[in-house]
Amino acid sequence: MIACGATPSQTTTLEQQSPFAYTRVHSQRRHSGVVARVNTVAFQGIDVMDIDVQVQMSGGIVAFTVVGLPDKAVGESRERVRAALHALGLSLPAKRITVNLAPADVVKEGSHFDLPIALGLLTVMGVLPDEEMARYTALGELALDGALTPVAGVLPAAINALAGGRGLICPAACGGEAAWAGEELEVLAPPTLLALINHFKGTQVLTPPKPRLQEDEGAPPDLRDVKGNETAKRALEVAAAGAHNLLMIGPPGSGKSMLAARLPGLLPPLDPAEALEVSMIHSVAGLLEGGKLLRRRPYRDPHHSASLPALVGGGTRAKPGEISLAHMGVLFLDELPEFPRPSLEALRQPLETGRATVARVHAHVTYPARVQLVAAMNPCRCGHLDDPALACARAPKCAADYQSKISGPLFDRIDLHIDVPAVSPADLSLPPPAEGSAEVASRVAVARAIQAERYASATVPNGGRAVRTNADADGELLERVAAPDASGRALLTEAAERMKLSARGYHRVMRVARTLADLEGGQGVRRVHVAEALSYRRIAPGR
Ligand SMILES: Nc1ncnc2c1ncn2[C@@H]1O[C@H](COP(=O)(O)OP(=O)(O)OP(=O)(O)O)[C@@H](O)[C@H]1O
Ligand SMILES: [Mg+2]
Repeated sequence: MIACGATPSQTTTLEQQSPFAYTRVHSQRRHSGVVARVNTVAFQGIDVMDIDVQVQMSGGIVAFTVVGLPDKAVGESRERVRAALHALGLSLPAKRITVNLAPADVVKEGSHFDLPIALGLLTVMGVLPDEEMARYTALGELALDGALTPVAGVLPAAINALAGGRGLICPAACGGEAAWAGEELEVLAPPTLLALINHFKGTQVLTPPKPRLQEDEGAPPDLRDVKGNETAKRALEVAAAGAHNLLMIGPPGSGKSMLAARLPGLLPPLDPAEALEVSMIHSVAGLLEGGKLLRRRPYRDPHHSASLPALVGGGTRAKPGEISLAHMGVLFLDELPEFPRPSLEALRQPLETGRATVARVHAHVTYPARVQLVAAMNPCRCGHLDDPALACARAPKCAADYQSKISGPLFDRIDLHIDVPAVSPADLSLPPPAEGSAEVASRVAVARAIQAERYASATVPNGGRAVRTNADADGELLERVAAPDASGRALLTEAAERMKLSARGYHRVMRVARTLADLEGGQGVRRVHVAEALSYRRIAPGR
């Protein structure tokens, strides 16, 4: 509990200077113990919960208290709010001020409570009209000079405000983000608290913000830069077409990272609904720069030293992890065996379900995490297992040790395993290949359209998951759409026995075969497709 510092004499001076009709209204309310209410939100993942900020000013010991499970940032709001009001020429009245954040049993996190608390105070002080506040949801952080600084989660808050039939008040820097919720949403995005007060007093009009998209930062890297490596390029095309996970194994400098960076350029752009969904996660993480909506599929390549919460989400504020930030895009794990084993194991469940659940003290927070995993690794620690001239003396034992760092279940979740051999100097001196990312992307787009049409009409249950691509299809649905012809089935059964494929591995081959048939126009799955799909299942040494 912190006592309010304003003495009655200071208050009088500031009242006299103040441009607001504070003195008159305040004197009417002086002993009534008035309560003002302002709507704001709390976040649980990308889900939004309405929070009612109640501000009461009453007689008694001079104090300014925030209750209702505030975290440290919310507790510190008092100081920012006090300073921001001071910058307007207002002092907190020498009264007992209680701020209650209801419902009181939900932990309130973040700095976005500054603005609703300040608005509640300005309402009980009579500076702002009571009835206006009920029409809006407000969120924003206050600087000490009264400026409004950007906060995370404005996009989901705006969508929630629209659904509740209210307008949104947010910092100017987040206005472009809020405007994406819909044209019907009234957005007030003032740069400062003073601009907002002036808007309500009718002396300054705030122009509605325009929805903003990220600028095109130039073309993504092109597949034309990659010389040779034809098998790897084909596998990349298959991965893009069916949204399959991909593991590339090869010696240093063979082009694995180069290939992975070219995958986003082969994927279809985000459609508007997807862009909104992906941007919501980035908004909650506070990563939506300048409030601009994403339009490219995300490509996240965390370093192998990233912590487990950084990868799957969590930490003190249950932020989304890399796997959720890569939702609808690519998660690239370079040097896969160098990642700590617990981190890799923690990825197994989100890879299977498309959701990352973060355990909290009071609740579980779930973020969407439907990613295409691309991983790269050297075959052994020295990296030259397949080259007797360069391999170290411990080969092949060191390769078995190194590759066994990837657990069988994780290995099983990767549909395509390919070798990326070193490119020969002869290949490197070739002219650039005729085919680049644009040509491959157009074939991928056709295969994706075939899948979208197929799964839009699929009525078979798929474990509660929406199916958009072959990589999402499972169980009965997969049996129905990807059953190979008789000779294809015979090849698959025989190979599964010889390669000791798990049931999951068996289904992954069927899925890849379905994508190969889709790249050829979407007819039935034949033996040739099964054979090629099987070629993408590398058996690691030691397994
Ligand atoms: N197929 C290729 N065509 C053209 N250049 C290539 C090719 N492969 C590799 N290079 C060149 O080698 C460089 C290193 O490639 P890259 O980083 O992709 O290798 P890597 O397989 O990821 O190696 P590491 O295992 O050490 O991570 C590239 O920046 C590029 O200049
Ligand atoms: Mg690399």
